[in-house]
Amino acid sequence: MKIQPDRLLADIEALAAIGDTGDGGNCRLALTDEDAGGRELVVGWMRALGLDVRVDRIGNVVATRAGAGGDGRVGGDGGDAAAPVMTGSHIDTVGTGGRYDGTLGVLAGLEVVRALDDAGIRTRRPVSVAFFTDEEGSRFPPDMLGSLVYAGGMPLEDALDIVAIDGAVLGDELERIGWAGDAAVPGPPPHAYVELHIEQGPVLEEAGVTIGAVTGVQGISWQELTVTGQPNHAGTTPMRLRRDPTYVAAETIGFVRRLATELGGHQVGTVGRLDLHPDLVNVVAARATLTVDLRNTDEAVLADAERRLRDHVGAQASAEGCDVAWRRLARFEPVAFDPAVIDLVEATAERLGHSVMRLPSGAGHDAQMIARMCPTGMVFVPSRGGVSHNPAEFTEPEHLEAGAQVLAEVMVELAEVAE
Ligand code: GLV
Ligand code: MN
Ligand code: MN
Repeated sequence: MKIQPDRLLADIEALAAIGDTGDGGNCRLALTDEDAGGRELVVGWMRALGLDVRVDRIGNVVATRAGAGGDGRVGGDGGDAAAPVMTGSHIDTVGTGGRYDGTLGVLAGLEVVRALDDAGIRTRRPVSVAFFTDEEGSRFPPDMLGSLVYAGGMPLEDALDIVAIDGAVLGDELERIGWAGDAAVPGPPPHAYVELHIEQGPVLEEAGVTIGAVTGVQGISWQELTVTGQPNHAGTTPMRLRRDPTYVAAETIGFVRRLATELGGHQVGTVGRLDLHPDLVNVVAARATLTVDLRNTDEAVLADAERRLRDHVGAQASAEGCDVAWRRLARFEPVAFDPAVIDLVEATAERLGHSVMRLPSGAGHDAQMIARMCPTGMVFVPSRGGVSHNPAEFTEPEHLEAGAQVLAEVMVELAEVAE
């Protein structure tokens, strides 16, 4: 069985034309018209491959190629082999996304199906290719929302009530774009789940290694802080009388950088959003709203970082006479993938003659949610310059091919070739 890179590249190119930002990148924020356009295209491909396509109530799409069944014969009753080996990822993007983040995992899954068809291989277990709603979480936090709901980690009603950064309500947007399906959530547990993704960081490229056998995903903490002070005249208000939320926000930004640097290791910290109100040159702001994204592979260190952030911001705000309201947008503990799946990814890459290393994922992935349901692992391929969430995101075609072939062989191993 051999995947055909030209077909995979053509699909990546075609999907990238939807929500094209004109600079090589993509904007298909979750549940926008562009997301709907991407969904139409990919589901059209799924149907053309003869897959059984199901859409669930949070808009996740699972497309399944039937298996031969429990006794290994076509037309068998399924028996213990009814649960599919699933692959997938997401086709939504951040507002300034590249063309590989998420899409690679979904489109490589479809290429695996084509390669199975070409080779006339029937697997004992079904093989499914999924794309999950709102993996990015940029518009509707938290990230990995669709796979979280699929895995039973958030009630559907809570997810449908989430309000976007643009004020839209998730359930309304899902209905509006026509992707509120009727398949139940939580979804049926797969037999195993394996996701191919670009690394989105510099590790593989710097090591000169083609395949990453991903050991797990680091913990993620997203918080939104709203600091309120006293809006006032920029010219007349003496410095000693200021209650300036912008100042508290700036101190917070500096602290996040110092904290992450001091903790070292895998600790990272980002202030990705900052809104000032009224945002005028000659007005001391009334309000500053900012987000803090903290991540670490070690839960205890991540929890300590959160505590230190809260203490520091509290002290800064009270010194400035400001109030702070905290809102948690996402909180996921680190996830360790299944040792047998990690071993299988590593052994498969070696057997195919690729250099391979084990590494944790810095980015969040649907695999970290599906890992709650079944043995799970991931395959990484290098990202040029370690750049992602950026239109310049790029992975060499031969690395895309290598990753897709490893994915295909791992899936066939897990799904077992029927007699
Ligand atoms: C989403 O994928 C994230 O890592 O923020
Ligand atoms: Mn992704
Ligand atoms: Mn992403």
